[in-house]
Amino acid sequence: MSSNPAALCAEGSPANARPSMFDLHGQVALVTGAAGGLGLAIAEVLLDAGAAVVMADHDASTLGREAVRLREAGFGAVHERSLDVSRESDVEALFDEVAGTLGSPAIVFANAGVSAGRGFLFETGQLQNVQMEHWQRVLDVNLSGVLLTMRAAARAMKPLGRGRIIVTA
Ligand SMILES: NC(=O)c1ccc[n+]([C@@H]2O[C@H](COP(=O)([O-])OP(=O)(O)OC[C@H]3O[C@@H](n4cnc5c(N)ncnc54)[C@H](O)[C@@H]3O)[C@@H](O)[C@H]2O)c1
Repeated sequence: MSSNPAALCAEGSPANARPSMFDLHGQVALVTGAAGGLGLAIAEVLLDAGAAVVMADHDASTLGREAVRLREAGFGAVHERSLDVSRESDVEALFDEVAGTLGSPAIVFANAGVSAGRGFLFETGQLQNVQMEHWQRVLDVNLSGVLLTMRAAARAMKPLGRGRIIVTA
């Protein structure tokens, strides 16, 4: 056994090889809010680790652009889908489609979210100026959208008997 910690992680591999715990070949992952920000970064890391990644977002044009960029960078296992996570029918349809084509996702990031607005140091962020229409959207996406995603993920993972759901919203 090697005394090199990196080599210990990747037993039987060169010391600079990816530790096997980060090898996601053969796994299906799904990331909501994957057109930008944290979701896009998460999708890239999952692709780099070998997973087939379903990138989902309601911003279809940005999502499409990023998917093309990733394919051109050599990531063949990119699958982009547009959805609104606050719509139950969108979320259920996406998980059904993924399970029927790629297989049930064992890794799901419920990441899509919208900002509640600027802080109180800004005029629009002050409590007396909160717009209830915007607040309702925040609840619909950041709370209901996350619950809908987690529920669909849990159902999809049940037949697998395993899975990971990570919430960033
Ligand atoms: N960045 C931060 O400091 C921070 C802090 C706390 C929590 N968060 C949460 O982490 C998550 C990612 O943050 P970010 O900074 O990358 O945000 P971001 O705005 O850069 O990205 C969010 C993505 O979600 C998508 N999205 C928004 N509403 C959607 C909907 N209804 N259906 C599908 N996609 C939708 C957007 O199009 C966008 O691509 C968000 O949920 C955010 O609330 C971020």
